[in-house]
This record gives sequence, structure tokens and C-alpha cells, in this order.
Amino acid sequence: MLTTHTFDDRVALVTGAGSGIGRAMAVAFAKAGARVVVCDIHADSAASTAADIGGNLAVAVPADIADQDSVAALVDAAIGAYGRIDVLCNNAGIMDTMALPADTTVEQWERVLRINLTGTFLVTHAVLPHMLRQGGGAIVNTASEAGIRGGVAGVAYTASKHGVVGLTKSVAWAYAKDGIRCNALLPGPTMTNIATAATFDETGLNRLAPVLALGESIARPEQMADAALFLASDAASFVNGAIVPVDGGWAAA
Ligand SMILES: NC(=O)c1ccc[n+]([C@@H]2O[C@H](COP(=O)([O-])OP(=O)(O)OC[C@H]3O[C@@H](n4cnc5c(N)ncnc54)[C@H](O)[C@@H]3O)[C@@H](O)[C@H]2O)c1
Repeated sequence: MLTTHTFDDRVALVTGAGSGIGRAMAVAFAKAGARVVVCDIHADSAASTAADIGGNLAVAVPADIADQDSVAALVDAAIGAYGRIDVLCNNAGIMDTMALPADTTVEQWERVLRINLTGTFLVTHAVLPHMLRQGGGAIVNTASEAGIRGGVAGVAYTASKHGVVGLTKSVAWAYAKDGIRCNALLPGPTMTNIATAATFDETGLNRLAPVLALGESIARPEQMADAALFLASDAASFVNGAIVPVDGGWAAA
């Protein structure tokens, strides 16, 4: 039985790694021996994470996961820097306004779906040929409790994260024989910048209040990183297509 996760000689690409859960993942993979490609749409925050990791263990690559050309450049840069991609953490995402279906504009819907779902697909699509060439890899998608429930976010975020769950299962099923595993985390409320980066309408704020009232039940980003390291590690070698709540029991009630 493995008691620690070692990523020596492995390369991890983490999207949304300039902040919150992605930043904690990038730092944790580097501590476990990986070289890390730190991707974020904000160049400054990607550079900051890479600088904190230090040495030649990390490279910052600014990219917009919602843009196919930007994603192609990201994957080219990762291969150029380290020659391979063993772990992909599709973590970048945005919140919606917590708006109900009738109150959600088409523009809001398309923006959230474009980043959270299409962006996750675009990075996966660009990385898979490298994992197939290498003979394996591990993908960890950051979904959400909103990926399996209808009442914890707005319709756009909820639909996008249900889509991420479906994408996870499809990739897991399609490439199991090729040594590529794909699993998803369902974080519960986690102390990051996601809420400050979003604007909530009044209904949304009311719906968020019970979540915020959880207080001490809000997770630290490092607790999500721990779960991601397990799923990407050899300790999870037979875990494929799993949709894993990491919420302290929040959704079990
Ligand atoms: N914080 C929570 O309570 C919570 C709960 C469930 C799921 N999640 C999910 O966790 C993931 C990480 O979110 P977080 O809470 O750490 O938020 P965060 O806002 O702290 O970090 C998200 C990062 O993603 C980056 N990003 C946004 N759009 C991007 C794009 N198009 N291309 C590249 N990078 C982009 C942002 O710049 C930011 O640095 C998201 O997918 C989110 O949906 C968060």
C-alpha cells in the first residue's frame, strides 16, 4: 500500500492555477516531486504561483481555456518546457450569478458554459494525444456539488458542472484501455476567490446565505489538492470515472 504520493519525473498541467484550488494543486504537485505547468488566464497570478514554487519545478503559461488557439499554445508550451504531460488538472472555472433559469440571460449561460465545460473539453482534447503517445496519464476535473445537484448554484453553473461530470465519465470509459484515467472532484464550499470574482443577483445571494453560514465547514483549497493528488497518483491506479465529493459530508445530509 502506498502511503505517500510521488510524482518524481512526472509533469502536471494545472489550469486556473493562479488562485484558490488550482494554486494549491500546483504547489502540492510540486512538493510531491512533479514539474508543474501553471496555467491561468491572468499572467500575473500564474507567474506568482510559479515563482512561489520556484526553481525549475514550474513554468507559468498564461492561457484562456475557452479559446482553442490559446489552449494549443498552452499545450505546445508545456511540451516544449518538459516534453510530456502525465497529469492534467482541469480546474479553471467561474461561478454564475446564482440566477434561476428564467432569470439567466443567454449571454450569462454561454459565458459560463464556454469556460467551465467547453474550456475543460478543449484542454482535454489537446492533451489526450500526448497521453496516448506516452501510453498513459491521469486527468482530474474540478466539478462541484452543483455537478450532481440542482439546488446549490444557478442554472448555468449547474449545467456546466453536470457537463463536466459527463465529460469525465466519457473520457474514463473511452481511454481506460490506454492507461488514461479520468476522475472528478466535487468540492463543497471552499475558501477561494471564486465568490469575489462573481456578481450575484439578490436571489442568488439569498440562496448563498445558508452555504456561507456553514462557517467552519468551508474547506481550505489544500484539502481539495490532497484529493486531487490521490486521484492522480498510482495509489488510485484502479480508480477511473469516479465522481468524488470532497465536502466534509455537506451533500450527505
Ligand atoms: N470555491 C468553491 O467553493 C468551489 C466549489 C465547487 C467547485 N469549485 C470549482 O473549483 C475550481 C477552482 O475555483 P476556485 O474556487 O479556486 O476559484 P478562484 O477564482 O480562486 O480560482 C479560479 C482561477 O481560474 C482562473 N480562470 C478563470 N477563467 C479562466 C480561463 N478562461 N482560462 C484560464 N484560467 C481561468 C482564474 O483567473 C482564477 O485564477 C472551479 O472550477 C470552480 O468551479 C469551487
